[in-house]
Amino acid sequence: MTAPTLISQDISKSFTSGQITQQVIKHSSLQIYPGELTLVVGPSGSGKSTMLAMLSGLLRPDSGHVRALDTNLWALDDRTIDQFRLEHCGFIFQGFNLFGALSALENVMLPLQYLHLPAHTIRERAEDALAEVGLQQRMHLRPFQLSGGEKQRVAIARALVKNPRLMFADEPTSALDGANGQVVIDLLKRIARDHNATVLGVTHDPRLFSHADRVITLEDGIVVSDEHRSEFKAPIGDIIEHAHE
Ligand SMILES: Nc1ncnc2c1ncn2[C@@H]1O[C@H](COP(=O)(O)OP(=O)(O)O)[C@@H](O)[C@H]1O
Ligand SMILES: [Mg+2]
Repeated sequence: MTAPTLISQDISKSFTSGQITQQVIKHSSLQIYPGELTLVVGPSGSGKSTMLAMLSGLLRPDSGHVRALDTNLWALDDRTIDQFRLEHCGFIFQGFNLFGALSALENVMLPLQYLHLPAHTIRERAEDALAEVGLQQRMHLRPFQLSGGEKQRVAIARALVKNPRLMFADEPTSALDGANGQVVIDLLKRIARDHNATVLGVTHDPRLFSHADRVITLEDGIVVSDEHRSEFKAPIGDIIEHAHE
């Protein structure tokens, strides 16, 4: 039986500007599983990025808990949360966030340099990650020499190189055309399977929905549907059992 690796329990988040308080996420509880690509979808402003940020240790919920890899995430102090993200989480964003002065290979090597591994190990692992996204022939090029789709694949390799158990992607395809968007989504799905990683993405692009293993639809901060397509599903009782401290 596969247990969820990422669990939110009754999390809420509001933002206040001036006199107006907007409740962006409303008492949300979810269980996300390893080995599959889960997409949170919904219109712009529905709370997708806020949800992802709370599940990935980037934004503290107003109330509720997040259990990530059996750690009660928001009970940790900020430094320990940073450390948790460094060790266990890979991030992919809409804008690629690559260093323009560095080659694809150097961009991918960067996260490993913080882990004090031997130089040859860093290089081998970076080359492997780039091969996994199909860029072994292009690894010495710099971002300006790569297409948008290739740049996002470099960003995926950079997230993957630490072999993180959790991967988060916020609108990873919105700067790409349809074909490149599908390549990126299919890669994320394959990574989930091959590495037994928990891959959670958010997107407002309906063309990608059919490529995910599971699609959670968010409207005004509330989950309105949750469609699971993989073969394995944990029974609800088991999940709730697991969600309690
Ligand atoms: N830091 C913030 N300060 C104030 N309002 C915010 C902040 N982040 C998000 N919001 C508001 O919360 C709502 C949901 O935002 P977001 O989670 O980014 O939605 P999505 O990713 O689905 O487009 C929006 O109305 C947005 O303006
Ligand atoms: Mg967003």
